[in-house]
Amino acid sequence: MGLNTQQKNIAVFASGNGSNFEAIAGACERGELAARVALMVCDHPDAYVVQRAAHHGVQTFAFDPKNYNTKADYEAQILQLLDAQNIDLVCLAGYMRLISKVLLDQYEGRIINIHPSLLPAFKGAHAIEQAVDYGVKVFGVTVHFIDSTMDGGRIIAQRAFAYEGSDASEVERRIHEIEHKLYIDVIQQIITQK
Ligand code: GRF
Repeated sequence: MGLNTQQKNIAVFASGNGSNFEAIAGACERGELAARVALMVCDHPDAYVVQRAAHHGVQTFAFDPKNYNTKADYEAQILQLLDAQNIDLVCLAGYMRLISKVLLDQYEGRIINIHPSLLPAFKGAHAIEQAVDYGVKVFGVTVHFIDSTMDGGRIIAQRAFAYEGSDASEVERRIHEIEHKLYIDVIQQIITQK
């Protein structure tokens, strides 16, 4: 499936607040992205992002992994939904699970992630706190293609900023501000490239 016809179908995977989902959905609605969010996948049915998706009228698959025997089982179900919606690009946005072969094999080169550090530094769920604790002076955001490892895969774009303080919530605020622009720019670049 090529990525060069007019409007693309995006799936967003999220686990929590969903501010990046909101940024992507809003950009689609305003016509800033040549795409629509055709599916939102969430592994926490109570997460706020589920309400955001409902507000935007986005089809949602909210599941509890505990109801499945294996990751392969729920990923097989996700795969069916991605195929049914003709998804061109999967955007992980705070999705706190590794993606396995079931999805990777079918959507190779079409799954991207956003991470709140300058990868390969500070992989994992506590990147901002770890960077602050380490005393880093330059923070940043990375968008990358994924592989089967945590926050692994070829880097597409990064943005950095200098900050000499130790207030993790201020770093997080600045990171989100960057993320909400950078992710849109990268998605637009991917879906419009020939
Ligand atoms: C973002 O900082 C993203 O980089 C990381 O998880 C966070 C998700 O935030 N992977 P939100 O749920 O989009 O607000």
